[in-house]
Amino acid sequence: MSVTTRVLKVDAVRPDPAIIDEAAAALREGKLVAFPTETVYGLGANALDESAVAKIFVAKERPATDPLIVHIAHIGQLGSFAATIPSGARLLGLSFWAGPLTLILPKRSAIPDIVTAGLPNVALRVPIHRVARALVEMAGVPIAAPSANRFSRPSPTTADHVRADLDGRVDLILDAGPSDIGLESTIVDFTVAPPVVRRHGGVSLERLREVLPEIESGSAYGAVTAAQPAPGQFLRHYAPRSPLTLYVGDIGRVTDRLGKDIRTQVASGKRVGLLALEEDLLALAPALAAQAASGRVVTRPYGARSDVERSAKELFMALRSLDQEDLDAIFATAPDPEGLGRAIRDRLERAAEGNVILA
Ligand code: TXA
Ligand code: MG
Repeated sequence: MSVTTRVLKVDAVRPDPAIIDEAAAALREGKLVAFPTETVYGLGANALDESAVAKIFVAKERPATDPLIVHIAHIGQLGSFAATIPSGARLLGLSFWAGPLTLILPKRSAIPDIVTAGLPNVALRVPIHRVARALVEMAGVPIAAPSANRFSRPSPTTADHVRADLDGRVDLILDAGPSDIGLESTIVDFTVAPPVVRRHGGVSLERLREVLPEIESGSAYGAVTAAQPAPGQFLRHYAPRSPLTLYVGDIGRVTDRLGKDIRTQVASGKRVGLLALEEDLLALAPALAAQAASGRVVTRPYGARSDVERSAKELFMALRSLDQEDLDAIFATAPDPEGLGRAIRDRLERAAEGNVILA
């Protein structure tokens, strides 16, 4: 499949109705439209059009066993696509929509099987980004949209990321600048009791539990072939091209160990990437002064321990930028697994494909 990909700039705060109209028409015609959301960019198709949805899987090279999130305009549409809505799900929807939350519920037959990979459940979300909301409203149909990256690559937080992965595979990209949150939505599964978080994301577990204390924190890593409590939660995900090692634990011990390991690599002629929080880079600076001068350590800060929101926003950007370098290895640090830090840590553990060192 090869199409000419058009990119249209659109204001994130006051989207031009003519542009939204054009994108909505393209969706209704069965075309693929990549669009910004508050979490990451999505690759959208009319969720009610099976052949349009099929194009998403081809464009992303995504396995047909990995279901898609359906974006709707407001909570009032929930009943059209979900067969039953437990009171807890309604409560979360009322509390966090529009916003970075996805609910898994039993599906109605209006949603084609291809969207849910044959599962009897559908993932539904109401995005808050003005462009996304305007698009869903103007399209007049629900929009199936996974993150607009090639399968197993980091999610895109800018239109350039989308183009890098999907140029020639998507008809239209709406460019409204970088995504605010930078991590995907939190997914809560209401087909089990108590409900379980299947993917940590833009709404933290702490905030969810303020509204619904019984929510459980699932961690659903599995092999690519494994069948699916939370399909798509494969270990190989968000993977950069160079192997990534994640260091977690006491910060002092992490930076000691990391400093030593980087010096060893550089001494043996390797070129390494360092993806770390600002405080960790400061702590590492004395140990790495000589290596930094060698040009063999490519450093990418992403936010700070004192500012995990910025870490979330900058994470995928930093990962993709390290990917542009010719590196033998990437070393990373992560925030503590609480609040948004839990989602950041999860993405890095996946990027590390299990290669995690507890210092
Ligand atoms: O923030 C987001 O959620 C972004 C934006 C574009 O909305 N979308 C996104 O979609 O991250 P995607 O496809 O990259 O991730 C969706 C995850 C996948 O792991 C998929 O397996 C899971 O949601 N999922 C979708 N439908 C499901 C279902 N019916 N049951 C269980 N898991 C489901
Ligand atoms: Mg994705």
